[in-house]
Amino acid sequence: MSKRVYIESYGCQMNVSDSEVVASILAKDGYTSVNSAEEADLVLLNTCSIREKAEYTVLQRINEMNNLKARNTGLKVGVLGCMAERMREDLLEKKKVVDLVVGPDAYRSLPELLDKVGTGQKAVNVLLSREETYGEIIPVRMDTNGVSAFVTIMRGCDNMCAFCVVPFTRGRERSRDAHSIVGECQDLVTKGYKEVTLLGQNVDSYKWRDQRAKETAQVVDFADLLEMVAVACPDLRIRYSTSHPKDMTDKVLKVMARYDNICKYIHLPVQSGSTAVLQRMNRGYTREWYLERMASIRRHMPDCAISTDIIAGFSGETEEDHQQTLSIISEVGYDMAFMFKYSERPKTLAARKYPDDVPEEVKGRRLQEIIDTQREASRKRLSTYVGRTFDVLIEGVSKRSTEHMYGRSSQNSIVIVPRTNRGEELEPGMFVRVTIHGSTAGSLKGEPVGPVEEAMLNA
Ligand code: SAH
Ligand code: SF4
Ligand code: F3S
Repeated sequence: MSKRVYIESYGCQMNVSDSEVVASILAKDGYTSVNSAEEADLVLLNTCSIREKAEYTVLQRINEMNNLKARNTGLKVGVLGCMAERMREDLLEKKKVVDLVVGPDAYRSLPELLDKVGTGQKAVNVLLSREETYGEIIPVRMDTNGVSAFVTIMRGCDNMCAFCVVPFTRGRERSRDAHSIVGECQDLVTKGYKEVTLLGQNVDSYKWRDQRAKETAQVVDFADLLEMVAVACPDLRIRYSTSHPKDMTDKVLKVMARYDNICKYIHLPVQSGSTAVLQRMNRGYTREWYLERMASIRRHMPDCAISTDIIAGFSGETEEDHQQTLSIISEVGYDMAFMFKYSERPKTLAARKYPDDVPEEVKGRRLQEIIDTQREASRKRLSTYVGRTFDVLIEGVSKRSTEHMYGRSSQNSIVIVPRTNRGEELEPGMFVRVTIHGSTAGSLKGEPVGPVEEAMLNA
């Protein structure tokens, strides 16, 4: 019997990373990965519940599976990830086309569950775990350019932000063995990767102690881990996501400042510029605290780029609160932001305690104002890079023009450069020193200066 699996990932980078763990578990079980649902015997949708719209997209995609199944009667369809965890058996009830429902902590049981599915039964495992980190599983890299990879350092989240479904879909926070993380990063280097992003919902609360040497072993915190990876992999560019403003320490900032191979870029979700809203969101910081953290970043790394996440129209948000969000955007001067309309999620603190009371059209208008303000902030911020020189890691051919390549600076700005540099073709994975001569709100344009070999990792 042929075993061809196609995995489609929705939602955050964590899901992309998990899909690679799933591919690895299934490869051991005899599956080969294919590039489209049409070629597959098994389609797995790794899903996201963060906003209602994210779930709607997946539900539509599940409907499309009916057509595929009509053409390929042997096809099995599985739902993995956060929607699997949130909806559980209901998903089988609602969508008859689904054969398998597996939550984020239950992927090791996939081979058994698939055996059951093979006999025509439905299978479900949505048990959450306090320990599972898939620590020793070497992921099968998918969809990558061979340049940049994700490495999960922790799972779950204990924060309980009032709007957020993640603690319910991903369970309790736990940190992965620091040595297995360093080992995976070293393995990436030997495979030719040039950049890694360390992933966790709140990396600042990473904490690991060697269980085998409980008495003597030191606790490894996020700053320690970052330093371990930076030292063990001096030629690897290191990024991470996501920091939490209430937990981001100066110790982390000092490590970032000390190592050239740690990128000067922090994603620090603010969510709102109003202390009153932040309090209802249960974020654990005030506007002033956030701005102090920003100031500390700039003190340690004057060149550090900052991006953020913002929610428009959370419960009880007044016009005055909204104005404070607009003003914090301008005050901080983010390089980039992800901006969302508040979407109430079942079971969350907000769903239980606060009415979803900002009318849809007001949410829409506020979101648009946030987007416009942010676009202006990005334009301004990126224009300050013009005339400066950065080391850019080339990732691929520009989507707009085959005569150009794109890459990223340490600050995570997208940089467009001509494809040929003094007669030499640029290729993904090369580091190029680039002088910036143009900018928009979304990217930079530049000209390589100096031979590629001379480009160093420090930006
Ligand atoms: N762990 C990260 C974020 C995870 S979710 C953190 O703590 O920042 C990514 C982003 O989605 C959040 O930062 C938030 O801006 C947004 N988000 C989460 N729940 C949402 C909801 N119910 N409605 C709208 N946006 C939401
Ligand atoms: Fe959600 Fe807050 Fe945890 Fe981020 S820190 S995943 S927003 S609960
Ligand atoms: Fe979505 Fe789950 Fe990530 S809800 S954002 S896929 S943790």
